[in-house]
Amino acid sequence: MPPDSMDNTIINKSLFKVESDVHGQLEKEYAARCKEARVLTVHITAAAAYAVKEKTTICQAANCLDVVRYQKHLYEKFKVETRIIAVDFASEDIYDKIKTRLAGLEIGILVNNVGMSYEYPEYFLDLPDLDNTIKKLINVNVLSVCKMTQLVLPNMVERSKGVILNISSASGMFAVPLLTIYSATKAFVDFFSRCLHEEYRSKGIFVQCVLPYYVATKLAKIRKPTLDKPSAETFVKSAIKTVGLQSRTNGYPIHFLLALVTSLVPPGINRKIIMDFNKSVRARYLKKFKKN
Ligand SMILES: NC(=O)c1ccc[n+]([C@@H]2O[C@H](COP(=O)([O-])OP(=O)(O)OC[C@H]3O[C@@H](n4cnc5c(N)ncnc54)[C@H](OP(=O)(O)O)[C@@H]3O)[C@@H](O)[C@H]2O)c1
Repeated sequence: MPPDSMDNTIINKSLFKVESDVHGQLEKEYAARCKEARVLTVHITAAAAYAVKEKTTICQAANCLDVVRYQKHLYEKFKVETRIIAVDFASEDIYDKIKTRLAGLEIGILVNNVGMSYEYPEYFLDLPDLDNTIKKLINVNVLSVCKMTQLVLPNMVERSKGVILNISSASGMFAVPLLTIYSATKAFVDFFSRCLHEEYRSKGIFVQCVLPYYVATKLAKIRKPTLDKPSAETFVKSAIKTVGLQSRTNGYPIHFLLALVTSLVPPGINRKIIMDFNKSVRARYLKKFKKN
């Protein structure tokens, strides 16, 4: 099922997060633009444009104004119309609002991309604001995947057609100490995707789990892409080619090789290597933080 045969696409990511200090003004802007739009697909990023046109650049929207600008860019360049739904995925009470805004749309592709990690590797009990951090990581990384799936899957099943792309992480394939909650949430996404694929593939639904290693993004705190840490654009260009072919993928050949090599290392040794690496990242972060 090639991606460009799909109709509407949802990508739940930063585009829907409203910064509190600019909230009022931007909401007006959103409202105005949404009224102007004729057809309105769904919220969008460049990856959606890939899905539709298979060419574009990736937008890492830093704030809502960027999102509105990006929406315009998508329309001008690809004639892809978008609907922006401003929600904070750390909250639990957003799904009725999303459901209402999606009413009447046939969703062909859902990309569960939204995700957050730690500020720096840390021991579980020493995580700053632990109660809140647990809740946020679970709501953003786990609840969003289940609830967005619950919203769009019924219509996909009715039409016997649909694609769900769940962005997990290599941290979900191998236990990553000092990123414990993140690693566990990504393992959830992996298992959820595999089970869902098995349950619904006979009904025409293709569920794919994407498990990348490092990609040069804000989340990874990597600015400059390298061969093994590609830009989001390079990564998505590669990963999108596997849609319909592989239900579980690292998305990028070098990441596949990394996973292969990691799988050959005994799990205990692997955990120790990662623990030592994350300990040194933690130490560097804390030293820098103390200096400042
Ligand atoms: N980069 C990597 O190395 C890497 C590796 C493996 C897996 N992944 C996964 O890839 C996915 C995309 O991450 P990325 O690397 O592209 O990082 P990113 O640029 O930080 O993207 C994550 C997006 O989620 C949004 N987001 C976070 N919390 C949110 C909230 N409460 N409500 C609404 N939106 C929220 C962020 O919005 P703002 O921009 O507004 O903060 C951001 O745009 C994530 O699921 C991540 O776990 C990334």
